[in-house]
Amino acid sequence: MDVARRQMVLVAFLQAQNCSNYPASWRHAETATDFLSPEYFQRIGRTLEDAKFHLAFFDDRLAMPDRYGDDFAESVRHGIRVVKLDLIPLLTAMGLATRHLGLGGTYSTTYAEPFHVARTFATLDHMIGGRAAWNIVTSLNDSEAANFGAEAHPDHDERYDRADEFVEVVLGHWDSWEDNAIVLDRARGVFADPAKVHRLDHRGKWFRSRGPFTVPRSPQGRPVLIQAGQSGRGRRFAARWGELLFVIFPTLDFARQAYREIKDEVVRLGRDPDLVRLAPAIYCVVGETHAMAEDKAAYIEHLAHPLDTLVLLSEVLNYDFAKKGLDEPFTDRELAGLSGLQATRDRVVRLSGKPNPSTRDFIQWSGRGTLREMPRFVGTPSEVADGLEEWFTSRACDGFVLAATHMPGAYEDFARLVVPELQRRGLFHQDYVGTTLRENLGLPRPRRGEWVREA
Ligand SMILES: Cc1cc2nc3c(=O)[nH]c(=O)nc-3n(C[C@H](O)[C@H](O)[C@H](O)COP(=O)(O)O)c2cc1C
Repeated sequence: MDVARRQMVLVAFLQAQNCSNYPASWRHAETATDFLSPEYFQRIGRTLEDAKFHLAFFDDRLAMPDRYGDDFAESVRHGIRVVKLDLIPLLTAMGLATRHLGLGGTYSTTYAEPFHVARTFATLDHMIGGRAAWNIVTSLNDSEAANFGAEAHPDHDERYDRADEFVEVVLGHWDSWEDNAIVLDRARGVFADPAKVHRLDHRGKWFRSRGPFTVPRSPQGRPVLIQAGQSGRGRRFAARWGELLFVIFPTLDFARQAYREIKDEVVRLGRDPDLVRLAPAIYCVVGETHAMAEDKAAYIEHLAHPLDTLVLLSEVLNYDFAKKGLDEPFTDRELAGLSGLQATRDRVVRLSGKPNPSTRDFIQWSGRGTLREMPRFVGTPSEVADGLEEWFTSRACDGFVLAATHMPGAYEDFARLVVPELQRRGLFHQDYVGTTLRENLGLPRPRRGEWVREA
C-alpha cells in the first residue's frame, strides 16, 4: 500500500437493540427511543454516510443475557442488552436510505446453516448494490444453545474447526455462478448458461451441502468478510478468512505488538497483509471544550448500574458469576472451563497480574459493560484526533470501530466534530471513491476460487 496515502477505515459499531454497545446508553437523556422503527436505523445510516464512514456494522447474539443467577428478570428490568432484532431487515432498510455506506451483519457459524448464510448475504449484496459484509462469529454461550435445541454450547476450539468448514461451504456457494452466467437471450430462449453454474457437492466432517446455489454471483464477487477472533485459535481463523478484523486492544503498547503479530500470521497464511484491515473498538466522547467532554463522559459513566457488568460477564464467559463470592479466586480448572470469550478471561489475568483472579478482578479489569472496556478518547476534536492519529500512524491499527456511548448522539458528535479534523489532517478520506464496499476499502474484487489458494 502507498504509505503516503494510507488512510484510516472508520466503522460504526451498532446494535439492533435497546441500547448501544454501552448497556447504560438507554438511560441517557438524549438517547432516541424509537429503536423498533426503520426510521431510527435509517437516520443513523444517513448520519454515518454524510460523515463518510466506510461501514455500519451490527453485532449479534442469539439469546438475551440470562446466565447471571440463571434468570432473565433483572436483565429485562434494567435493560441490559435484552432486545436483539434480526439484522437483515435493518440492513436492508438502511441500505435503501443510503448509497455508499457499507452494511455489515453478524451471523453465527454455530447456529445457522452455511447455505442459509450464503443465500442471505449474497441476496443482501444484490439488494444494496455491493455493500454487504458478513461478520463470522462462533457464538458464546449456553443460552444461545438453548434457543436452538442444543444442551450446551460447543467447546471454543471445536467451534472454530467447524467454522472453518462452514466458511468453505459459504465461499464455495458464492463462487458457484460464474460472473457472466446470466445470458437473458429471449430470442434463443436462454436464461443462463448451465455450463457456468456449478454444483458444490460438499461432504465434509460437519456439513453436507449439494447446490447448485440459487443466487447469482454478487456485485462484490462476494460480500466482505469480517472476523474478530482474538484467542490463539481465533486469531488463526481471523487471519485465514477475515478482510476486516475487529479487536479489543486495551492499550497502545499492547495494540502495536498485537497488530504486528496478527499481520505476521496473515503473511504466514500466504495472504497480503495490506488487504486485511485491523480495527480496534473504541469509545470517543467529544466536546467543544475539554471540560465539556469530561462532563459528558462523567454523566455517561454515572448511568451504569452495578448489575450491568456481572450480567454481561456471565453472558460472555458462559459462567454464572452469582455462584462465586466477590473475593474468591477462580481455580485453574474453573478458568479453563470459561468457554465463551477467552480474550476477556486472558485480559483479566494479564491486567490484574493474578493467575487466579476473583470476581472482583473480573469486574475491575474486564471493564465489561463500562466505558473502561475499550480505549476511550475524551476531549476536544483536536485532542481526540491526536489520539486516533497516534494509534493509526504508529501501526497499532488500520482504523477504528467506533462504539457509541448513546444513540445516535455519539455518532452525530463524532461526525460533526472529529471527522472534519481527521480529514483536514489527511488521515481520513474526503469522499467515497467507489460504489461498492470493496472499492471504498481498497479491496480488489475476488476472482472465483481465489480463496482456495489463499487458505
Ligand atoms: C468488535 C467486536 C465485535 C464482536 N461481535 C460479536 C458478535 O456480534 N457476536 C458474537 O458472538 N461475538 C462477537 N465478537 C466476539 C468475537 O467473535 C470473538 O469470539 C472474540 O473476540 C473472542 O475471540 P475468541 O473467539 O478467539 O476467543 C466480537 C468481538 C469484537 C472485538
